[in-house]
Amino acid sequence: MYSRITGTGSYLPEKILTNKDLEAIVDTSDEWIRERTGIRERHVAAPTETTCDLAEQAARCALDAAGKHPDDVDLIIIATTTPDKVFPSTACLLQARLGIRGCTAFDLQAVCTGFVYAVGVADKFIKSGTHKCALVIGAETISRLLDWTDRTTCVLFGDGAGAVVLEAGDEPGILSTHLHADGQYEKLLHVPAGISTGFAEIQAESAFIQMKGNEVFRVAVNTLGRIVDETLAANDMQKEDIDWLVPHQANVRIIQATAKKLKMDMDHVVVTVAEHGNTSAASVPLALDTAVRRGDIKPGETVMMEAFGGGFTWGSVLAVM
Ligand code: COA
Repeated sequence: MYSRITGTGSYLPEKILTNKDLEAIVDTSDEWIRERTGIRERHVAAPTETTCDLAEQAARCALDAAGKHPDDVDLIIIATTTPDKVFPSTACLLQARLGIRGCTAFDLQAVCTGFVYAVGVADKFIKSGTHKCALVIGAETISRLLDWTDRTTCVLFGDGAGAVVLEAGDEPGILSTHLHADGQYEKLLHVPAGISTGFAEIQAESAFIQMKGNEVFRVAVNTLGRIVDETLAANDMQKEDIDWLVPHQANVRIIQATAKKLKMDMDHVVVTVAEHGNTSAASVPLALDTAVRRGDIKPGETVMMEAFGGGFTWGSVLAVM
C-alpha cells in the first residue's frame, strides 16, 4: 500500500508587498534584500483574512485537481504556526467549512518543516490502511508574527497556503519521508510568547519572531545537505535519479547550496522565494503547486521536497508524481 499525490493546490492573498514598499517601513533596500535572500516581494493577508481562509482556497483547488469531493476526504492535517484560534484546531474549522463531518482532523506544528511533517504523518495513516484520502495543507498568516520595526526579520516572510490530496494506491507515490528535530536550537529562531507562559506577562516584543539569521543560515545549509544524503541512501538512489528539487523557500542562497550538493542544475530546482518570500509551512506545497501548474513537474517524475525550520526541525519527502 502506498500514498500518492493526486492533486495540488495553492492560494496567495491579494495584497503584494514589494521590497520597495518595505523601504518606506524599515531601514532597508531592495538591493540588500534581493542580494542576501533572493526575495523581491511577498503576499500579505488582509486584516480580516485568516489562516483558515487561505487553507480553504488551497484545499478546494487541490480537491478539484484530484477530482475529489470533500465527502471523499477521511483525514485533514493542517501544518501551521499561525492557527486562527487556540482551539478548535484550524483543521476542525476547515472541516466544518468543507461540510465534512466525523473524519480525522488535526493541526501539526513543526514551523517551516510543518508540511513535510504532515505528509510524513498522512503517509503513515494511509499505509496503515486506516485512511484512504487525505487533505494535507500548509497554511500561514506569518505576517501576524512579525515585528514590522525589525528589519532583520520582517523582510523575509510572507503569507499563503498550499495543499495536496494524498490517496491510497498500489503504486508509489511517496517513496519515503524523513523527519527530524533538535530542540537544543530553540533560541536561534523562536517566538518567545506562548499560552502556557502566560498571556498577562507577554511583552509586546516577545510575541514576534526572533532570529539569529546568520547562525540559522549555517545550520540550515549543513542540515539540508545531510537530509539529501539520508534520503538518497534510504532509497538506494543516486543524485541523477532525482528529477526535481522542491526546497523550502527561505533564502535562494540556501536553496543553491542544497542544489549544489545534489549536483542539480538550477533549471530543475523549483524557486518561488522571489515572489512568495518565506511562507513557513506553506512554502513547499506552494512551490510544488506552482511547478505542477506551470507544467514543469510531470506525472511519473521523481521529486525531492525538503524543509528546515524553528525547533530546529527538518525533513524530506521523496515522491513519484
Ligand atoms: N536591510 C538592510 N540591512 C540589514 C537588514 C535589512 N533588512 N537586515 C540586516 N541588515 C544588516 C545587519 O544589521 C548587518 O549590519 P552590520 O554588519 O552593520 O551589523 C548586515 O546587514 C549583515 O547582517 P547579517 O545578519 O550578517 O546578514 P546575512 O548575510 O547573514 O543575511 C539573512 C541575513 C537573515 C538574510 C540570512 O542570515 C539568512 O537568510 N538566514 C537564514 C534565515 C532563515 O532561513 N530563516 C528561516 C529558517 S526556516
